[in-house]
Amino acid sequence: MASVPFDRLDGHIWMNGEFVAWGDAKVHVLTHGLHYASAVFEGERAYGGEIFKLTEHSERLHESARFLGFTIPWSVAEIDGACRELLRMQGLSDAYVRPIAWRGSEQMGVSAQNNRINCAIAIWQWPSYFDPEQKLKGIRLDIAEYRRPDPRTAPCKSKAAGLYMICTLSKHAAEAKGYADALMFDWRGHVAEATGANVFFVKDGVIHTPNPDCFLDGITRRTVIELARRRGYEVVERTILPEEMDGFQECFLTGTAAEVTPVSEIGPYRFQPGEVARNLMADYSAEVHPKRAVEAAE
Ligand SMILES: Cc1ncc(COP(=O)(O)O)c(C=O)c1O
Repeated sequence: MASVPFDRLDGHIWMNGEFVAWGDAKVHVLTHGLHYASAVFEGERAYGGEIFKLTEHSERLHESARFLGFTIPWSVAEIDGACRELLRMQGLSDAYVRPIAWRGSEQMGVSAQNNRINCAIAIWQWPSYFDPEQKLKGIRLDIAEYRRPDPRTAPCKSKAAGLYMICTLSKHAAEAKGYADALMFDWRGHVAEATGANVFFVKDGVIHTPNPDCFLDGITRRTVIELARRRGYEVVERTILPEEMDGFQECFLTGTAAEVTPVSEIGPYRFQPGEVARNLMADYSAEVHPKRAVEAAE
């Protein structure tokens, strides 16, 4: 990928109802969202010119804001429309879509009741990564030092910027040791998720995944559960203890960015990327690509 910094990319950004030149989409340093993490965002992917599950993402953006005590002044339909129009203006087909909403600069303090709620959308090129052979080798995960917080200590169902502080710390620590990512336990010590993706395991053909009771119930997670059941796999959502990882044969991650990514290692535990992940990678790829794009390519 090109090393051009993100503030120097080309095109337009939708900001508070208007399309502005990429380089003009700026905020002041005295922005509440920057100082106090009063910001929520989404990560979406366009495949073949269509944003996968766009409305679900826009609804989650609204929900995330509600958990942080603010209302986004653009409706789900308006945000959907802005995303679609921006994708067209950017002239992209396979792309990443990043909506964000945050409290502005009117008050600078813990209390910011009167701050304007801002919203912006940026879209950049991100060709989908479809080299199943490479992916099928599986990625290596470390075990994170930080844990997903207790729902009594943070609005854990919000895709809130502040909740990513421990994700960045955990991912950096893992990368420093040569791992691709880190698996996080939850506040009770149960298996939770990776720093930007949900986790699944396979044992004797049955799929097991943690209950999303204190972390994001990913849109990809739900899609993959549906695809797996459609294929006839049994999927069990339950508490998973770390030591159980010893008995699982396959492991894979799901997420908008990760799609379906097999895992070969988590700390001391080893997995064999295999048939279940391979089938679900293929099913997910078929599901996210608009039918007309698939037909045109044939
Ligand atoms: C912490 C975390 N968990 C899970 C996910 C997966 O969510 P989704 O499938 O909706 O992208 C993401 C990605 O957004 C994430 O950042």
